[in-house]
Amino acid sequence: MDSKSCTGKERDLESGAAANALFVNDTVHTLSWEDLNVHIEDRKTKTPKAILSSTFGYVEPGKVLALMGPSGCGKTTMLNALAHRLVSTKMQVTGTIQVNGQSTTASKLSNVARYVEQEDALIGSLTVKETVDFGARLALSKSISKAERIQRVHDALQSFGIQDQADSLIGTPLRKGISGGQKKRVSVASQLVTSPKILFLDEPTSGLDSAASREVMSYITGLAKELNLIVVISIHQPSTTTFELLDQIMLLSAGKTCFFGPREGLESYFDTIGYPIPLHTNPAEFILDLVNVDFAKDKSAAKTHLEKIHNSWATSSKSQDVSRHVSSLSQNNTGVLYVENTSRPSVTTVTWTLLHRAFIKSYRDMIAYQIRIAMYTALAIMMGTVWLRLPYEQTSIQTWINAIFFSGAFMSFMAVAYIPAYVEDLQMFRKERANGLYGPFPFMLANFLIGMPYLFLITFLFSVIAYWLANFRPTAGGFWIFTLYLFLDLLAAEGLVILVTSIMPIFVVALAVTAFANGLWMCVGGFLVPPGTLNVFWKCKNLPLPASPVTSAYLSLNRCFPLH
Ligand SMILES: Nc1ncnc2c1ncn2[C@@H]1O[C@H](COP(=O)(O)OP(=O)(O)O)[C@@H](O)[C@H]1O
Ligand SMILES: [Mg+2]
Repeated sequence: MDSKSCTGKERDLESGAAANALFVNDTVHTLSWEDLNVHIEDRKTKTPKAILSSTFGYVEPGKVLALMGPSGCGKTTMLNALAHRLVSTKMQVTGTIQVNGQSTTASKLSNVARYVEQEDALIGSLTVKETVDFGARLALSKSISKAERIQRVHDALQSFGIQDQADSLIGTPLRKGISGGQKKRVSVASQLVTSPKILFLDEPTSGLDSAASREVMSYITGLAKELNLIVVISIHQPSTTTFELLDQIMLLSAGKTCFFGPREGLESYFDTIGYPIPLHTNPAEFILDLVNVDFAKDKSAAKTHLEKIHNSWATSSKSQDVSRHVSSLSQNNTGVLYVENTSRPSVTTVTWTLLHRAFIKSYRDMIAYQIRIAMYTALAIMMGTVWLRLPYEQTSIQTWINAIFFSGAFMSFMAVAYIPAYVEDLQMFRKERANGLYGPFPFMLANFLIGMPYLFLITFLFSVIAYWLANFRPTAGGFWIFTLYLFLDLLAAEGLVILVTSIMPIFVVALAVTAFANGLWMCVGGFLVPPGTLNVFWKCKNLPLPASPVTSAYLSLNRCFPLH
């Protein structure tokens, strides 16, 4: 079965080859780094702690460099540093990173490089083809025609062997989609379609079984060769067959280099420093065990032994060769510009593309709006039947007031149902922003514009049912005032959800904070406890209420109340 799938892959690669000329890298000749260090402020001692120390290296086109090492050794940190991605303000990166021997900046690099994160964010309700196409639309300049873009998407799908899944959904919690290995390939394909020359991939094989890992890696190495790309990946523990696909290895342990060079040289190097790799052993597994001190019984002995490995590398002739080669690269700066003069899509184009993407998600993803529409409708039926045909009498005044309060209160409380869909969008936004595609303005605008009609529909359905069942004043004016205030209430509540979730993008935390804020404003808004009675402490908290159901309840009271 394995051999069959391999020939399949080769065929895919071959058939995509001709059209793939579009993606071939002929401008970036090297990526190199010199004395790269990363420090982070220690939480306890407040002193800088080294998480990556004095690393040197380079990658050439067509080659895959694998950063290997035990978990926590600094692979992701190194990849982030190389890609100019600052994950924390407490992190300090020193050293030089050069492309074609010229120093880079985050914005220059974003023209030629793409980064695929370990937990890559995708929108579950899009199809494979749409995902890759939106990736292209957000990054490619207007000078590329629609036909050309469609051709690129087609080629990218073909290169990654996912053309048969082109119309399958990525998959949401409610609808099963493509497999994990295929998702990784979609992630890489949607970056590749933007013609990067350098690809950074953080653990592209984690969470995959060995067959799927090999499948993903053989695509990546195949593409690197075919398109002459520079690829840097981090990989935790490759199987023997996956290991054999790698060109260059950088072995890290505790942030220090233990080896850098071609894979073939690894065995002989460890042989010369006194750690021969036994026959019939997976070399990757052997060297990872060798440099992993986390589980050693005798910690100090393990530390001494690791120091010996670090020193052996630092003093080895191989390491001198690497640093000599790296400094020669910067001296032999050929002056070949690697940043092409391509214009980015305009804010309008990006907003339009995001609107289109959000629209597809809004009608396809049940979680985004459909479940909420059903929930609010059920709530309206419940409310209408509980407060059924209330009489217009003095004794019912409290019941009327409760009805008005309840409609507003639940409208805003239930807005928390938007959190899961928004968290997905936010993760996608963070990824695309980190890749330099767009900023918060188009994202917010697109989400707001797509959400509005749905929120209106929700409010309208709620009002149509609850207003007439409860027997509010039977006039069109009263009905519309009631509906519009509830709409504004829901809009404000949704705004609160977006604000809180953007600050704390974790479902349970955002849920708790939003619910608390809603509860607080309901209590102190002046409706449940009149402002004259409310104690001074909470009165000063009675700031303008962004999502107060009470405000809308008060305001709509006058118009909808039957006894007036
Ligand atoms: N933002 C951060 N704050 C504090 N420590 C961090 C941060 N990022 C990484 N580290 C530390 O740096 C080390 C390397 O982390 P990382 O690069 O994620 O490792 P790997 O990807 O190899 O598993 C770990 O010991 C981790 O605890
Ligand atoms: Mg990592």
